[in-house]
Amino acid sequence: MRTLRRATIAGIGKYTPERVMTNDDLSKIVDTNDEWIVQRTGIRERRIAADNEATSDMAIKAAQEALDRAGITADQLDVILVATCTPDFNNFPATAMLVQTGLGASQTTAFDISVACAGFAHGLDIGAQFVETGRAKNVLVVGAEKMTSVVNWEDRATCILFGDAAGAVLLQPSDDESGLLASDLGADGSGACLLNLPAGGSRHPMTPELLAGKENTAHMDGKAVFRFGVKVMGETALKALQRAGLTESDVDMLVPHQANIRIIQAAAERMGLVESDGTISKKVAVNIDRYGNTSAASVPLALYEAWMDGRVAEGDIVVTIGFGAGLAWGANVIRWGKLKP
Ligand SMILES: CC(C)(COP(=O)(O)OP(=O)(O)OC[C@H]1O[C@@H](n2cnc3c(N)ncnc32)[C@H](O)[C@@H]1OP(=O)(O)O)[C@@H](O)C(=O)NCCC(=O)NCCS
Repeated sequence: MRTLRRATIAGIGKYTPERVMTNDDLSKIVDTNDEWIVQRTGIRERRIAADNEATSDMAIKAAQEALDRAGITADQLDVILVATCTPDFNNFPATAMLVQTGLGASQTTAFDISVACAGFAHGLDIGAQFVETGRAKNVLVVGAEKMTSVVNWEDRATCILFGDAAGAVLLQPSDDESGLLASDLGADGSGACLLNLPAGGSRHPMTPELLAGKENTAHMDGKAVFRFGVKVMGETALKALQRAGLTESDVDMLVPHQANIRIIQAAAERMGLVESDGTISKKVAVNIDRYGNTSAASVPLALYEAWMDGRVAEGDIVVTIGFGAGLAWGANVIRWGKLKP
């Protein structure tokens, strides 16, 4: 019988492409404007990966930083998990394979996690289980996306929302109180049609007609997804906290999926993380203004920045939340450990 040990975050890394696309840049492509986008979404700019830069290229850079910070080399990795909905290749091989070879890791298992914007929440929980059960010592969990490769640049309702990025954490057995305390993961496949990429899979293999109709890009019922996000973000975080034996008053940092500032505001209100004037508390990580929605990369990227800014310290209770296509959601409650700067 193995003893369960917590899995702690021993390293963290991120990568954001150099190219910045502002709302004004977008207004030259579609009929939109900075004011509308900022008011309705909170997004001011997003990063766009280079043409020759795929999801795995970004993932490798974020992952290498996480490994360096944890002081391990790629050959010490046991498991590589890549959460993405924009894999390098539509069907196979998994992007995690390309991350493995790119990092120079050989002794690992590697696979992708396909839960869109809730992918990192799932990856963290799955990765932690490898550590907790004693099956692995070094587990890399990456969230990486080239969302701009699946955006319809003629659809102003969706193309304004997304950006490209990668974030990664290295999980190790904890030798103190730090680590993943609890998670809540969920899915409701009856909402599968609300946010999807219709063509290119076995349901609708690609044809010239589907391509011409832009069925190879993201389709979304924005209002329905908005309502879902508002409802589920607070719910899943509170469930995860309850499982950890904690309440919202214990939260030192909330790291919500960066989909829309109004959805983040609703989650903050539900968690009691607003100032007396109603604005979002400093205990909530917000960087949607600079990156837009980077799907599975959004939570590790916001977590990284909050930590880098000195807003997350050893012993802090950090709650992360993801939600998105599936429909799916997930929250993780983490007690932050010692991390090398
Ligand atoms: C997409 C979203 C920003 C749209 O905001 P909204 O307030 O619902 O806006 P609507 O779709 O009702 O559109 C309102 C008006 O703005 C227009 N509009 C839509 N996109 C626009 C844009 N980029 N620029 C200017 N006008 C726009 C619409 O055509 C509509 O015009 P009309 O009233 O003349 O018909 C919002 O629904 C949203 O964020 N949904 C959740 C998306 C999400 O989080 N997805 C990822 C989940 S992981």
